[in-house]
Amino acid sequence: MLIVKTVDEIRKFTKKEHQAGRKVGFVPTMGALHLGHLDLIRLAAEKSDKVVVSIFVNPTQFAPGEDFEAYPRKLEDDLEKCREAGAAAVFCPERGEVYGGENYIRMHLSTLGNHLCGASRPGHFDGVIQIVNKLFNMVKPDVAVFGQKDIQQFRILEQMAFEFNHDVEIVMGNTVRAADGLALSSRNVYLDRKERIAAPHLFATLQKAGREITQWMEASDVQAKFKKLAAESGKELEKAGFRPDYFELVGYENLQPPEQLKSGTTYVIAAAAYLGKARLIDNVLIKL
Ligand code: PAJ
Repeated sequence: MLIVKTVDEIRKFTKKEHQAGRKVGFVPTMGALHLGHLDLIRLAAEKSDKVVVSIFVNPTQFAPGEDFEAYPRKLEDDLEKCREAGAAAVFCPERGEVYGGENYIRMHLSTLGNHLCGASRPGHFDGVIQIVNKLFNMVKPDVAVFGQKDIQQFRILEQMAFEFNHDVEIVMGNTVRAADGLALSSRNVYLDRKERIAAPHLFATLQKAGREITQWMEASDVQAKFKKLAAESGKELEKAGFRPDYFELVGYENLQPPEQLKSGTTYVIAAAAYLGKARLIDNVLIKL
């Protein structure tokens, strides 16, 4: 497995693979890899001939006061996991390689960033599209895989690839969960033993809400109904020890709250909640 730190080297890698007629798959990550990331590497390998994994804790997607400094960094472990998962190359640049020189340009999201994590973490997704745009230009992949776990990020990056004409297929990987339902996350290391036991309540609450809304097909007062459901879900989460951040229903395409639920349309119920030091997010996708 090739390990490279410079843009030149990763460009050379992709160029060689393309010259040999091979497809390059790409899994961008911030490291502290778990089975969710490894499943994306497996999926990328199914869709391409050679898989590149990037490991870079991107400073521009963290707001001041968030966990940029504390974010777990385990490069040696991660390289071993990538090797075992069958990655062909790991791109792990230093900050200066990515953001060297002057930085005068920022990209700004429009309405896809109004709700969910976009509302509670202003600027976060501007940082995400900035880094993934750069990574796509550095790695030049044919296929890129992102997880459903971060559904708003997925939808935004899918749209970014379209609007900025990146010649890359965007593929969604399923959320990998612990046996009790908790979505795997690099931030789960912030949970203590008691919090870890309470943590699966987030997904359970989302699943329950998902079952409920499938009954609302003909309803004209979806927003009022969901407001009540979100309040009840919030109370359940509080009882389990969470501090809820948001609990929202949006359409998958525009990430806006729907007036009515239509068949043939995909919706997302997404939630974020603090449990101790950890901010957990999760979602269910509902195809009506
Ligand atoms: P990171 O949080 O490391 O996640 C990297 C990828 O793994 C993302 O596509 C994310 O959705 C996916 N992922 C996380 N948990 C998962 C799980 N339990 N099951 C399946 N996939 C999971 O997301 C980022 O990094 C960054 O924002 C990045 C896109 C790399 C830009 O900096």
